[in-house]
Amino acid sequence: MRLNKYIANAGIASRRKADELTKNGNVKINGHVMKEPGYDVLPDDTVEVNGRVIEQNEKKVYIALNKPRGFVTTMSDDKDRLTVADLVSDIPERIFPVGRLDYNTSGLLLMTNDGELANRLAHPKHHVEKTYRAKVAGVLSGKKLNRLRKGVDIGGFVTSPAKVTLIKQTQRSAVAEITIHEGKNRQVRKMFAAVGCPVQELERIAIGDIYLARLKEGTYRKLTRAEIEILKSY
Ligand code: URA
Repeated sequence: MRLNKYIANAGIASRRKADELTKNGNVKINGHVMKEPGYDVLPDDTVEVNGRVIEQNEKKVYIALNKPRGFVTTMSDDKDRLTVADLVSDIPERIFPVGRLDYNTSGLLLMTNDGELANRLAHPKHHVEKTYRAKVAGVLSGKKLNRLRKGVDIGGFVTSPAKVTLIKQTQRSAVAEITIHEGKNRQVRKMFAAVGCPVQELERIAIGDIYLARLKEGTYRKLTRAEIEILKSY
């Protein structure tokens, strides 16, 4: 974040006043005077204004984003691809994604500036269930569904029991919902590939008891107080 915004966010001064303070030499980064208001403050930087260290006392924000395909789950991308940051650019707080979705996966992504909650949710020991709707190629026979439910080898790792429901089967493809709690890299894609039904489209529709529901693709909503309490209880 730019230095002037960082100072303004901390409630020290308006952005314009922050520019002034900076140009006048009243601001230090890691003990050194910094006169450039556009300096990009790094997470580990110590920022001092008039000799006092300032902290970012941001209010906590919790949002549910419906990530479209073709967006990277990071706040910046060195290959200049679209990122989820582009979809939440009107949120002034420094939020970041909780976990990730593949570039080609759409659906529910939680974002917050609550680092403690994000770490807890990401930790496998908390076993937060994630539900996906997958369109896959081929026929999801009863036998294949049961293999997915029991656990499949996805290359050196056997998945834990999963909940799998067949929603629709046509001649060449099927739609199923699958609930897992492990979150290995590309796990759902690898699971369906392991039973010979490669994923064609993948969407996350729930994280625990937080649902994507009718949230439009590319948009976000703030979580309700009740939803935040649910997340904190995991
Ligand atoms: N499993 C996948 O294969 N991709 C995702 O994005 C999430 C889970």
